[in-house]
Amino acid sequence: MTEKKARKFHIETYGCQMNFSDSEIVASILKAEGFEACQDLLEADIVLLNTCSIREHAEERIRKRLHYFRSLKRKNPGLTIGLLGCMAERTKIALMEEEQLLDIIAGPDSYRHLPGLLEQAGSGQKAIDTILSADETYADIQPVKIDSNGVSAYISIMRGCENFCSYCVVPYARGQERSRDPESVIREAKDLFLQGFREVTLLGQNVNSYQWKAGKETMDFPGLLERIALLDRKLRVRFATSHPKDLGDEVINMIAKYPNICKAIHLPVQSGSNAVLDKMNRKYTREEYLGRIRAIRNSIPGCAISTDIITGFCDETEEDHQQTLELMREAAFDSAFTFKYSERPQTIAQEQYDDNVPAEVKERRLREIISLQQELSSASNHRDLGETFEVLIEGESKRSDKQYFGRNSQNKVVVFPKTAQKPGEYVKVSIKRATSATLIGEAC
Ligand code: 5AD
Ligand code: SF4
Repeated sequence: MTEKKARKFHIETYGCQMNFSDSEIVASILKAEGFEACQDLLEADIVLLNTCSIREHAEERIRKRLHYFRSLKRKNPGLTIGLLGCMAERTKIALMEEEQLLDIIAGPDSYRHLPGLLEQAGSGQKAIDTILSADETYADIQPVKIDSNGVSAYISIMRGCENFCSYCVVPYARGQERSRDPESVIREAKDLFLQGFREVTLLGQNVNSYQWKAGKETMDFPGLLERIALLDRKLRVRFATSHPKDLGDEVINMIAKYPNICKAIHLPVQSGSNAVLDKMNRKYTREEYLGRIRAIRNSIPGCAISTDIITGFCDETEEDHQQTLELMREAAFDSAFTFKYSERPQTIAQEQYDDNVPAEVKERRLREIISLQQELSSASNHRDLGETFEVLIEGESKRSDKQYFGRNSQNKVVVFPKTAQKPGEYVKVSIKRATSATLIGEAC
């Protein structure tokens, strides 16, 4: 009897860290069903795109990629093509009909059904599952690492979002907020440590509202953070993302308490103007945001703070824009992700407000924000000159095989001449030079 050859799947991931973590869950589900992962797209029988809908540009990139897959499918008509994630959820059957190319559409809560969907697609039927769940957390699934450096890993601790910021598609694409059983999170962190990983990033759209209840047992985010920090002092813990309205003193104190909880907080501000924040439904004022920044700076000396900023939101005036620039200076962000507002279907902003800041104004404001952030990042890195940091080595620097790169607790990239240590080990590095993006030093 000849053995049936395993079908090979290849996953491409777009968007945020959460999607990368989800692709590992998908890989785990498919492997458990006898499918084989493959790196080379051209060898695959099944291609899955794990997609992002956060900005129009993200969706455009994926549509372009689908055109390439059209040519692949012409050469190999047996190829199965599946769309996963937020764009699958958002567009549902429409994209399948439009593109006449997709065999499978699966939303973020449907990954357990993928083997069945693949079987259906194999028998020539289009397969769709975009039902969102109130309780799916994939807690029992041990993710299979894809493209891993073997040093740092993501752990998803919650799914969905219920904040309904008026610009954001995530609550519609990813559904209700739900937290994962803490014991399964701790087990996953422990396993990763035993496999040699030395850094875990706890992921959720809004990790500070993590909340688990089972009978009399409860666990909140600071509690979970502490349990992971206590696993081993050589395991670093990071987390993303925090909503400023939920970042309480308990979390700040927990970060200060344990050296292996990294001194880096990503705290998206989005805008420095109260009028815009209100319209965005962010539920805090610029004063409250700056109050949180002061609390962090007071309790955690040397903590890096990064942010996300959207420019050109509906009705944003020049005065609002100036207030964002002022807030950036006052907060002295170490780094920032900056975006032009992109109207998304279904959102409150799309339904109720006018996307009325002209494209060229959005572009000019974005340039001003980027240029100020470069100054602030450069100043932040130059403040580190002469300092010594503990760096977790991640691998060889891209520029030279004689150099290592790693990160300090503040999440800054540090490059230095190779030492006897290996990736996954810690080394003390003294900083000699700095650019706006990198610290350059020597082991000491
Ligand atoms: N347009 C531009 N940027 C957006 N973001 C979320 N939605 C939009 C949108 N419609 C940004 C926010 C968020 C980050 C992940 O993406 O800054 O924090
Ligand atoms: Fe991630 Fe949001 Fe993009 Fe979905 S829409 S992939 S949740 S960034």
